[in-house]
Amino acid sequence: MKRIICRDAGEVSEIAAAMIAEQIFRNRESVIGLATGSTPEGLYGKLREMYENGDLDFSGVRTFNLDEYYPIRKSNDQSYDCFMRDKLFSHINVKMENIHIPNGECSDPAEECIAYEQMIAEAGGVDIQVLGIGLNGHIGFNEPERELRMDTHPTELTASTIEANSRFFSSIDEVPTKALTMGMGTIMRARSIILLITGAHKAAIAKKIFSGVVTTEVPASFLNLHPNTTVLLDEAAASEL
Ligand code: F6R
Repeated sequence: MKRIICRDAGEVSEIAAAMIAEQIFRNRESVIGLATGSTPEGLYGKLREMYENGDLDFSGVRTFNLDEYYPIRKSNDQSYDCFMRDKLFSHINVKMENIHIPNGECSDPAEECIAYEQMIAEAGGVDIQVLGIGLNGHIGFNEPERELRMDTHPTELTASTIEANSRFFSSIDEVPTKALTMGMGTIMRARSIILLITGAHKAAIAKKIFSGVVTTEVPASFLNLHPNTTVLLDEAAASEL
């Protein structure tokens, strides 16, 4: 894993946006894997700016999001579908038919996940995948477990993730306890990966992933085995390295 320590979260977003832009310049039909959560918000702000300034064209780009709560209505303002429209998609010229997010409204989650994995394969795989990291080391909703799943699958959220995500809901009881997520194999098959880690509260988990150990107890530690992963950290997140 390549490590870049940035001055602050703003610089993390700038470098990540430049890496995505470079991929789109190389291939205007790039397949970009996207994440939600608070970490990539700055990145999406930069991508919007680049589009508004006429520096970036998303008209050929295809996107696949990592995950979605289950069950959840797309109209729920805490759905990842809503988050992505609000933070990025409604502000750029990506085509609606090129946007993919696991469907939290589906009636058969297992079938939805198989179809999602197939759509990624049919698109030719992900060129560049954006990731954030949970306090417990999760990526997507691949939570610490004895065994990790390879492909997109339905999963249960851990108590730690429900607690961490409750800040977006009016009460913890409203946080969905299940999700649909790309698997570890889906993520590891991306040709390149950018992992964004910002804030002092992420310093301990950042230290763990650079400890030289790969363990299912810290799903993000598997990124050490990926041939083209860049970890962008701000100084606060890098303070224990
Ligand atoms: C979201 C996702 C999660 C988040 C992680 C960090 O699509 O896949 O793994 O990246 O929970 O969330 P924040 O950025 O809110 O700390």
